[in-house]
This record gives sequence, structure tokens and C-alpha cells, in this order.
Amino acid sequence: MKQRILIVGGTGFVGTRLRQMIVDRGGTVVVATRSPSNQPVMAGVEYAALPGDLSGFDAIVNLAGEPLFGQRWNEAVKARLRGSRIDGTRKLVDAIGASATKPSVLVNASAIGVYGDQGERLLPESAKTGIDFLAELCTAWEREAERASEFGVRVVKLRIGIVLGPGGALKQMLPPFKLGLGGPIGSGAHWMSWIHIDDLCGLILHALRDETVRGQVNGVAPLACTNRDFSKALGAALSRPAIFPVPAFMLKLMFGSGAASVLIASQRCVPERALESGYAFKYPDLEGALRAILC
Ligand SMILES: NC(=O)c1ccc[n+]([C@@H]2O[C@H](COP(=O)([O-])OP(=O)(O)OC[C@H]3O[C@@H](n4cnc5c(N)ncnc54)[C@H](OP(=O)(O)O)[C@@H]3O)[C@@H](O)[C@H]2O)c1
Repeated sequence: MKQRILIVGGTGFVGTRLRQMIVDRGGTVVVATRSPSNQPVMAGVEYAALPGDLSGFDAIVNLAGEPLFGQRWNEAVKARLRGSRIDGTRKLVDAIGASATKPSVLVNASAIGVYGDQGERLLPESAKTGIDFLAELCTAWEREAERASEFGVRVVKLRIGIVLGPGGALKQMLPPFKLGLGGPIGSGAHWMSWIHIDDLCGLILHALRDETVRGQVNGVAPLACTNRDFSKALGAALSRPAIFPVPAFMLKLMFGSGAASVLIASQRCVPERALESGYAFKYPDLEGALRAILC
């Protein structure tokens, strides 16, 4: 892969792993960030504010977005969650439109939150989308990304599940589980669609390479699990009991009702397009994924 790739929001959890994988495969990366100074020096990686002229990039990956957790979703926070994704993507696509030479592909982050809360239903990419705050945000985010296709750019809207790796959601979950105080949320019946970070980045590289991949793509492992089974597997990987349920009202107290509803929404997603296009998951099952991260 001798490509020059722009990663917008490439300083975070996913971007840090992705840029390493691109450089390891012989590519070069420009990370567009709000803070180009004081970034770690890495061969093959440059940092810059979002360039006005995007000519010269073979591909763009857009991962930018204000973190969903760690703050209560009041109106000001909701405006930042939306603005950083919807307005940010609009600005990026406008810059693509204004550039003399266009990238061949834009892989734009979205989230499985686009489906809302769907209980037991299996969710391939053709499933109907939800109507709550996060679902509407993701729908608008995807719509902005799709505009790049008007400029002849292949657009992939990656509906990312819970990313498991050395950071992100797992880092938040680990402390109680390590103390043997972890357990399911509420009844634990809701479905969680997760993906190992190396598979997410592998799928992004696959989407950059394979010209048949376009449109919505679920970025999830083939085997979703219930929250109850996830808690059991995490406890087992840490050799700790995982029997203390966390009542849903406690999550609401901790995170506020908006963010808490995301944690208890049931999404049983299927990576139909990834599998159809020949992506081979390195970590298809949860036990293997957790072992690789924690052991
Ligand atoms: N991790 C997951 O489990 C997961 C699941 C579903 C979807 N996603 C989506 O996938 C993308 C990447 O996830 P991640 O875990 O790598 O996120 P992350 O670690 O929070 O990184 C996101 C990047 O977005 C930029 N950013 C943060 N706040 C911003 C703001 N207000 N305006 C503009 N840019 C801002 C930051 O870059 P600078 O500070 O350098 O500008 C940051 O490096 C995100 O859009 C996220 O919503 C992630």
C-alpha cells in the first residue's frame, strides 16, 4: 500500500492504531488534528490542521467526533456531538469538492447507534434505522459523507460497533471487573455488537483497497453477544467473578439518561457487507478477542 492517506481525527483510539497499520504496510499518513503540535513523532506520519486543498491524497478516513461518553448530554453537549460530526464532515466534503484532484475513496465513521434500540432483531446494513438522538445524528452524519459521491468519490459509511482494544470502552469497563465487582447491566438481555480494534482497522484498509465496497458497512464482528454473555466472558478472561448486576438507574445517575440509553440499547448487527466482500475477521469470537487484548 504505497498510498498517501489523510486521517481526520486520527489522534484518537482508532486513529492511533490505524495510522500504525498503514505505515507498517508502506503507506504515508497525514493526520488532520485540532492540535498539530505536541504529537508523537512517528516515521511516515505528519500532523496538520485540516488542509484546505485535498489534492494529493489517495484516500481519506474521517474519524473525528467529540467523545460520546464522559459528559452528560445537555443541549450544549448535544450540539458539540452533532457539530463535530455533521458540520465537520460537511466541511471535509466541501473541501473535497473544491480540490482540483479528488481522493478515490472516503471512509467515514458512523456508529451502530444509527439503528436505535432493536431488541432481538438481526441488523444487516439494510435494516431500518432508529429515531432517537444518536440514530438521527448518525443518519445526518452519513448523509453529509454521502455527498462526496457527487464528486466521483467512492464513499464507505462504516457503522462502527463497540471497539475492543487497549483503550476505548473496555478501559472504562475494566476497573470494576478487575476488582471482581463487574456484572451485567440490568437483565443483561440486550445485544452488544463489538469488534476488535485490529479487525476494525483491517476492515478500513480492506474498504480503502476494494473498489466494490461502498455505502453502509457494519463494522462489527460476526458474533454479537448479549450483555450477560459479554460480562461472563470478560470475567472469565480476567479470572474474576462477574455476578454483580449494575442496575440501569445507576447508569442513568452516572452518565445521565441520554448516554445511559446508548449503553442499554440492544443492537444485534451482522457484518453482511464485510463478509460478502471477502473480509476475513481475525477475531470473530469474543473470547479470542478478549484473550488477545487482556492476556
Ligand atoms: N471507539 C468506539 O467504540 C466507537 C464506536 C462507534 C463509533 N465510533 C466512532 O469512531 C470515531 C473514532 O472513534 P475513537 O474511539 O477513535 O474516538 P476518539 O478516541 O474519541 O477520537 C476521535 C477524534 O476526534 C477528534 N475530536 C474530538 N472532539 C472533537 C470535536 N469537538 N471536534 C472535532 N474533532 C474532535 C479528536 O482529534 P483531535 O483532538 O486531534 O482533533 C479525536 O482524536 C468517532 O467518530 C466515534 O464516534 C467509535
